[in-house]
This record gives sequence, structure tokens and C-alpha cells, in this order.
Amino acid sequence: MSPRTTRPAKIPRPPRRTSSHERTNRTLWERDARAYERRNAETLERGDPMGWGMWHLPERKLRILGDFRGKDVLELGCGAARWSVALAQRGAHVVGLDFSAARLEQARAEMRAGKVDFPLVEASAESVPLPSARFDIVFCDWGAVTFTDPYRTVPEVARLLRPGGLFAFSNSSPFRTLCEDRKRDRLGPRLRYDYFDLHRVEYGDEVNFQLPYGRWIRLFRDHSLEVEDLLEVQPPANARTTYLSAASQAWARRWPIEVIWRVRKSSSTPGRTRANPRV
Ligand SMILES: C[S@@+](CC[C@H](N)C(=O)[O-])C[C@H]1O[C@@H](n2cnc3c(N)ncnc32)[C@H](O)[C@@H]1O
Repeated sequence: MSPRTTRPAKIPRPPRRTSSHERTNRTLWERDARAYERRNAETLERGDPMGWGMWHLPERKLRILGDFRGKDVLELGCGAARWSVALAQRGAHVVGLDFSAARLEQARAEMRAGKVDFPLVEASAESVPLPSARFDIVFCDWGAVTFTDPYRTVPEVARLLRPGGLFAFSNSSPFRTLCEDRKRDRLGPRLRYDYFDLHRVEYGDEVNFQLPYGRWIRLFRDHSLEVEDLLEVQPPANARTTYLSAASQAWARRWPIEVIWRVRKSSSTPGRTRANPRV
């Protein structure tokens, strides 16, 4: 099977108009795909490819995904797909999804180098052209969840997961989003923004999304997803990263800069719908 091809969804859905943040972020990733890889190669290629977050903390220690052998796994915003390649080599049935053609080109190179072949889908995580209940695990490591509206992505993940399936992702902590000088890319010890306003976060040529913790949890529950764990990452003493300045690394030793959510789709309850999903 060609890497780009996947089985079509059983019920074709009408095409959705791309949102402004998808356009902004896609332009950025198409432009910066190579620079991102160059800048962060030292972190991304260090040790086991299955490493979480800015410090590349090994999955074999954190055990976020649990047993993935023989399972259907979707990586949302796979980039160069190092995680997916490693999962496929270790017996998972993987699909990688990314909305950037340049990133998927890098994924194809990693697949060739890793001698594995699995479907790659060029699409946005907010509207995934794959059938419902297709996956046991949907995950990403600072992938599409950082760049997509959770009010679109979380329902989509809930649709894609089988009952009892796992949703796991790492992203920024709300602390970081609130303490960041967004223009100068610096972190400080004071809250600069209103907590209750957290949602769309603008960085000039990039749009991220973040929610207050309570709203994440309510959104998960509204889609029959129960929180199993929330790991607030404190880097080990010897940890290093290419993603942060020395000052930001010092900040991250005092406050959580990134988190890893582990959320399970209920094996029985159907999803509930709220009249106003933001409240
Ligand atoms: C920081 S990279 C993470 C990928 C990989 N874990 C890594 O570290 O290289 C974020 C990835 O998410 C992808 N992405 C961002 N928004 C997306 C969206 N709406 N749909 C699909 N992929 C998206 C980007 O193209 C990029 O490859």
C-alpha cells in the first residue's frame, strides 16, 4: 500500500472549510519543517525515539501508552514520525497524520530508514478522514493538540477511539501559557494573562490552544473520556533540551512547563453533548 493511501471512511463527510489557525499554522510548518528538524535534532535523535516532551523522557520509563503491540495506533501531528516508526517496528499497527506535506516528506524518509511501511494521512487533526472507532490508541507528543482547537480535536479523537481506547498527549502547561512573554519568548515568575480567558493563544505567525484544567476535564467528560493521569513534567537534574533557553529551563525546574495527559474512552457510556460547550 502506498504510504499516502488509507482505507476511505465508510460515511464520507462533506469537506470542511479550513479554519484561520489551520492556515496560519500550516504555512508555518511548511516553511519551518527543515529548520525545526535541524534545530532540535540533538533532542529528537537522542536515545530511544519514543521519548516524551522537551526532555525526551523515555516511554519505557513513563509507560504512558501501556501495551501497544498489535494495537491500532494513530499519531496526530506525527511530523517526521519517529514515534510511529518505532511503534511500527515494535509491533503496533500505526497510522501517521500530519497536515504538512513537508513534514510527511520527512516521515517518509524516516520510514525508509527504519524499514517500515504504514499509512500516512495528510489532513488536519480537527477533521480526520478516517472511520469512527478505528483506533485503540490516539496520541501525540507536542503534536497537533498544541495547534488545534480542543473543542474540535477532542470530539474527533473520541469519535476515532474504540470503547476503552486511550488518548495520550503532551503539550504546554497552562502555567507556561500564562507566564510567557509571547512577543519575546521569555518566561517569568508572574502571571501575565487571565486564566479564565485561556483558549486561543496567538504568537504572531503561530496559533496555539490552551484551556484551564477544569475545562479540559469537562471537555473530556462530555465526550466520554475519563482522565487517568496528568503528568506535570519536572525535568530530571541531568536533563537537557534544544527547545528552551537556559533561563526557561531554570523556570521549568520551578513550575511545570509541559504536561502529559492520559485519558481513557469509556467502554460503555455514549458521549454527551452540552448546549454551550465552552461553559
Ligand atoms: C512540534 S511537531 C511534533 C511532531 C513530533 N512529535 C516531533 O517532535 O517532531 C508538531 C507537528 O504537528 C503538526 N500539526 C500542527 N497542526 C496540525 C493539524 N491541525 N493537523 C495535523 N497536524 C498538525 C505539524 O505539522 C508538526 O509536524
